[in-house]
Amino acid sequence: MPRTNYRGFLVSAKPEFMANIILVGAQWGDEGKGKVIDVLTEKADVVVRSQGGNNAGHTVHVGGTKYVLHLVPSGVLRENKICVIGNGVVIDPVGLVKELDGLLAFGVKLEGHFFISETAHVVLPYHRSLDEQRENLKGEHKIGTTKRGIGPAYGDKAARTGIRVLDLVKPERFAVLLEQRIREQNEVLKAFGAQPLSFVQVLAEYQAAGARLQPFVTNTVTLLHDALKRKASLLFEGAQGTFLDIDHGTYPFVTSSNTTSGGACTGSGVPPNRIDKVVGVVKAYTTRVGEGPLPTENAEIADLLHGMGREFGATTGRPRRCGWFDAVATRHAAMVNGIDELTVTNLDGLDTLDTIKVAVAYEVDGKRYDYVPSDIQVLSRCQPVYEEFPGWKTETSQVSEWKGLPAKARSYLKAIAKLTGAKLTIVSVGPGREQTIFL
Ligand code: IMP
Repeated sequence: MPRTNYRGFLVSAKPEFMANIILVGAQWGDEGKGKVIDVLTEKADVVVRSQGGNNAGHTVHVGGTKYVLHLVPSGVLRENKICVIGNGVVIDPVGLVKELDGLLAFGVKLEGHFFISETAHVVLPYHRSLDEQRENLKGEHKIGTTKRGIGPAYGDKAARTGIRVLDLVKPERFAVLLEQRIREQNEVLKAFGAQPLSFVQVLAEYQAAGARLQPFVTNTVTLLHDALKRKASLLFEGAQGTFLDIDHGTYPFVTSSNTTSGGACTGSGVPPNRIDKVVGVVKAYTTRVGEGPLPTENAEIADLLHGMGREFGATTGRPRRCGWFDAVATRHAAMVNGIDELTVTNLDGLDTLDTIKVAVAYEVDGKRYDYVPSDIQVLSRCQPVYEEFPGWKTETSQVSEWKGLPAKARSYLKAIAKLTGAKLTIVSVGPGREQTIFL
């Protein structure tokens, strides 16, 4: 039966193809999206990154090899897929060249499969320096950024002082723009007491990177629309998570892009009416890296997961903060993203627990919230109202079908999906492609 949307219209006019899907993180990032995207890519034709930069780190395990991707869509690890870095991404060209070299060394084919938007913005060394200086100045109020220059790069984009990929790949034009920008940015860096940058050095490094990237640079908007005309299936891989969204997250403890589903459209040039469904990814518990409120944070679960060697950041190696599943947050995420289907990852992380808690509401000053309050001063004081579930105390990492999961694990999964308000379709019990249960 073809699915219909909330107004009764057919969701996909091409049921013989996989739908065009936006995949989003429904928590604070690191939900295990890289693996899920890699699994879903099997059926997609084109995989698109539409926001963020190399602050993201998607870990994918294929045939015993671990790949950590920062900018290149995870789909690159499958043959015959088109992978696109869209206009909404901010690109550190030097970092991207290193990433591509790593993939080439593994024998991954890029030519004809990998494309970079000419209108994506470039992250420059002064963005990274400023990111660091601003964090230092904030002291204990710091955001806990990845120091990859993401905020200052998006800042330049909004201030209309950014440099784009189409400028980078034209050496003379790039030199003129860089000279102007470095002159201004060096004054700012000097005011911070930081080391000014050498124009000659940055120019040489970036022109070299630009020359390496040039063959992949194109108009990805028309490329994606040509793919749509061919009825290709598009998969948009979100980076970070809903509560790191610049508009809908726990501002100012957020990243600088729209990590929610709307960002996939503006960050790629594919309009909303070409999207068939939104898939949300959550961990079976909650994690966060960096500062900012995390209502269900809990030392017991953090010790357990870190003791298992889990929950260290893929980009910075920082230990992630951990907590119980927060259904208030995931319900809110389902609302702002329009999540149709839910994927739960890392179920096996909870295998040893006697009792598992889930936040079903927050309370502060006698007021009960069933959504995430916008004011982080309020959110920071929210006390979760927990519901408890019995643990299954059985290893799940080898389970490959729904019926093979312990009954208590199934009840837990059904409950968190119901509380979130989305249909559970995939459960992941480990990093490997084969450790995936489809419902
Ligand atoms: P920025 O994106 O480096 O500016 O960092 C802003 C906030 O987003 C910090 O709390 C980071 O830890 C967090 N963040 C950025 N990228 C990721 C990610 O890929 N996963 C999880 N957290 C992230």
